[in-house]
Amino acid sequence: MTDIVFVLNGPNLNLLGTREPEIYGSDTLADIGAMLGGKARELGLEIDFRQTNHEGVLVDWLHEARSTGAKAVLLNAAAYTHTSVALLDAIKAIGVPVIEVHLSDPATREGFRHLSYVGMAAVDEVKGLGARGYAVALEKAAAL
Ligand code: DQA
Repeated sequence: MTDIVFVLNGPNLNLLGTREPEIYGSDTLADIGAMLGGKARELGLEIDFRQTNHEGVLVDWLHEARSTGAKAVLLNAAAYTHTSVALLDAIKAIGVPVIEVHLSDPATREGFRHLSYVGMAAVDEVKGLGARGYAVALEKAAAL
């Protein structure tokens, strides 16, 4: 059976393409999903690519990654990265490796973006590579 990787995107990422393109680039989330689908086929993986603006939905989807037996999760929790103990606890609870992904590099931005609750439990991270970072993260997931 083909390994499945959940790709979970948090708040405001549905606006990619028009949202601060000087920071996040001009690709839409649909563009990123299509590109990543191609990469997944190359790697012999299946992806389940989703976006929500709601913190609890991300928690539910992390639990679902576990119940589905996902190989890994790529998680761009967007602003919840910097605020959500609930996401940290969920990542610790599920026993599925999570790779933290960001289009920008939060460490080079405002101070409030330097703290990452997701990073406290993630097995790896890819930051500052724009849309390409999702493909790099999927390669890392394939190698787990
Ligand atoms: C982001 C970085 C976060 O700080 C920000 O809140 C986002 C996007 C990124 O992909 O660069 O919404 O996760």
